[in-house]
Amino acid sequence: MKNIDSYTHLRGESIYLDDVPVLNGTLFASVFDSPVAHGKLVSVDITEAMTVPGVIRIFTAKDIPGENQIGGIVPDEELLASTHVHFCGMPIALVIATSDEIAKAAVKKVKAVIEPLPVITDPREAKEKGELIIPPRTFKSGDTAMAWSQCEYIVEGNTETNGQEHLYIETQGAYAQPQENGAIRVYSSTQGPTAVQRTAARVLGMSMNFIEVDTTRLGGGFGGKEDQATTWGVLCALASFHLKKPVKYSLHRMEDMRMTGKRHPYSSDFKIGLTKELKILAYEATFYQNAGAAADLSPAVMERTLFHCNNSYFIPNVTATAYSCRTHLPPNTAFRGFGGPQGMFVVEAAIAKAAELLKIPASAIQEKNLLKTGDEFPYGQKAESEANECWNKTDELYNIEKMQSDVELFNAGNKLFKKGIALMPICFGISFTKTLMNQARSLVHVYTDGSVGISTGAVEMGQGVNTKMLQVAARVFSIDPSRIKVNTTNTHRIANTSPTAASAAADLNGKATEIACREILKRLRQVAEDEKILIADIGKTEIPPFEIKDEWIYVNGKKTEWTWTKLVMAAYIKRVSLSELAHYTPPGIHFDPGKEKGHPFAYHVYGTAITTVTIDCIRGIYEVDSVKAVHDFGSSMNTMIDMGQCEGGIVQGIGWMTMEEIVYDKEGKLRSNALSTYKVPDIYSVPKEITIHPLETQKDNLAIFRSKAVGEPPLMYGIGAYFALRNAVKAFNPSAVIPYDAPMTPEKVLMSLYQPPNA
Ligand code: MTE
Ligand code: MOS
Repeated sequence: MKNIDSYTHLRGESIYLDDVPVLNGTLFASVFDSPVAHGKLVSVDITEAMTVPGVIRIFTAKDIPGENQIGGIVPDEELLASTHVHFCGMPIALVIATSDEIAKAAVKKVKAVIEPLPVITDPREAKEKGELIIPPRTFKSGDTAMAWSQCEYIVEGNTETNGQEHLYIETQGAYAQPQENGAIRVYSSTQGPTAVQRTAARVLGMSMNFIEVDTTRLGGGFGGKEDQATTWGVLCALASFHLKKPVKYSLHRMEDMRMTGKRHPYSSDFKIGLTKELKILAYEATFYQNAGAAADLSPAVMERTLFHCNNSYFIPNVTATAYSCRTHLPPNTAFRGFGGPQGMFVVEAAIAKAAELLKIPASAIQEKNLLKTGDEFPYGQKAESEANECWNKTDELYNIEKMQSDVELFNAGNKLFKKGIALMPICFGISFTKTLMNQARSLVHVYTDGSVGISTGAVEMGQGVNTKMLQVAARVFSIDPSRIKVNTTNTHRIANTSPTAASAAADLNGKATEIACREILKRLRQVAEDEKILIADIGKTEIPPFEIKDEWIYVNGKKTEWTWTKLVMAAYIKRVSLSELAHYTPPGIHFDPGKEKGHPFAYHVYGTAITTVTIDCIRGIYEVDSVKAVHDFGSSMNTMIDMGQCEGGIVQGIGWMTMEEIVYDKEGKLRSNALSTYKVPDIYSVPKEITIHPLETQKDNLAIFRSKAVGEPPLMYGIGAYFALRNAVKAFNPSAVIPYDAPMTPEKVLMSLYQPPNA
């Protein structure tokens, strides 16, 4: 089934935040943010800004009626700076004016006196100074200290991975409207409507039931709107609260890039030990996460780095420690993969370094160590592994050795162009690692004409979750999809939602929808019995006594005179409820953060990709020739959407690993602050070929209709592009010493190509 949004997207009719019809009297907001990364806020002067015609009011921290606090996991982040600023871009004042242009112009006239304080941008420096967001955590299995003596080869090193700008096409924004009795409705471009609601209530000193948050869809979130959409929703609510007027704020791209956090940069150390047979016996890693100035989601992101530190490999002895380091950058946040990619990069670098030392392809080590079913992860969960299946199928379909020798052949015959190839197996755990967040609700109404309305906590952000919700209802009821409408995500209809994140939205909300539909179906069956269409207890036959197929009622496999609509109407006449609010939590998951052991994931997603690149050895530029993968979809319920998620994820992952380069200067100012200085993949830089082969498994799992979560895992195939580029450079300049430092930009490629020996 096609993504149900494709029709309105194509016609420009989809409603994003900026398309919500604007009410008469709406005011517009813009933020004055800190020009300094760290300092004492001595005074804020708004007098000149207030003289700009059309400026209504300018709010600062002292206008906050409740708590000036937006920190979710750790209460360490002010909405508006009161006494100190902690990053360039930290909101200080909120200008409200009669137009967007006036608000933005007036912001330039706000003046702040800030006494600068020392700025830290480097996570290792922050750690040295004891600036940690939370105490460090260590995941441990076996005993690495004992294992080193049994290793034939031991390799040590360090890595850097840079951040990544989310670059959702729709920038952050919100629109607040006053309601009766002091209530406020906030339209928000957020992945977490409940987070916006909860924080608005906290900041305004109101109860949550007076705040309604409504989200139609996002023009992309990618994690950037899981926590960081809250600021704008709450700021609009604050202004609306005081002025009793609708207030809207849709951020300019440069405001968005400057004021919001990104993927966490990591600086890491590794030590890996292998046996003569290339079995990885021991692995140690230390991760220094650049959290930025406040916790935001950093503790959870850091945790996932530890969960995925061994990627797709079984390693009997692991010690991995992570530090969440407080620096003076905008608080970094969720980004597709949520710390997983950063952890996986380090083990891939360790393997690559060992392979370079042994003069063998990394794939020889990778293949030997893939997780098997029953192997234990460092956190105690036992794998139900598809890692070998994916790898073997990749080999069977694409012939790994042949591809590798083709690359060698090409390189032997070409001087100015070199190819590189790398394999990238992935393993990604599905579930929020915070167990309590794994819950969802769905509200299903069947109307008397047989049409169906669904509301869930899931937010549509391009990943197709609404289409999947619709498919669930269509399949359970066996009715035409055109009868079903998926409604906006609204905190009045579905309360206490978890954000749409962790790739788990379709599973959690889909299962809740399935339960709701089955419950209604049960009642309809009873109505069928009461109407004597169905005689109860006909006996135990193979054929289901009651069934709806393509909108017709079947009894004992025989089509009756009754349609879906007729039965629905009969139920209504009998005063039977045609609505259901269902609740779902996945069974069997638990985790003990004290012991760092448990069974945190409902299941894992596996896959293997082969990436081939070509570099131009005169200019340092490159192309990704192909990404060929075998991906573990379970049993995909929507191949078109799932393939789209794979392709998008791969391109986004390649962008992170190759061309996207965030630059903050030593003063903590973002230098790559616009699309002219920050390059994301465009149509010319996507791989010339992406082939995804689905590993279809019919094994039971906790996914909705056994269709495994697909939102984040494919991003990590992009890591293969980094290692393929390294290999290509090495083919030209074998003596190049290339630090494990991503992204591998064309500049870095060029420098390494012509790095003199012994540099
Ligand atoms: N796909 C599109 N088109 N736009 C997005 O913003 N976000 C990704 C992924 N795919 C995203 C996307 C992220 S970060 C997550 S966690 C999942 O979608 C969330 O949706 P799901 O739980 O329904 O997979
Ligand atoms: Mo996705 S990073 O979990 O929003």
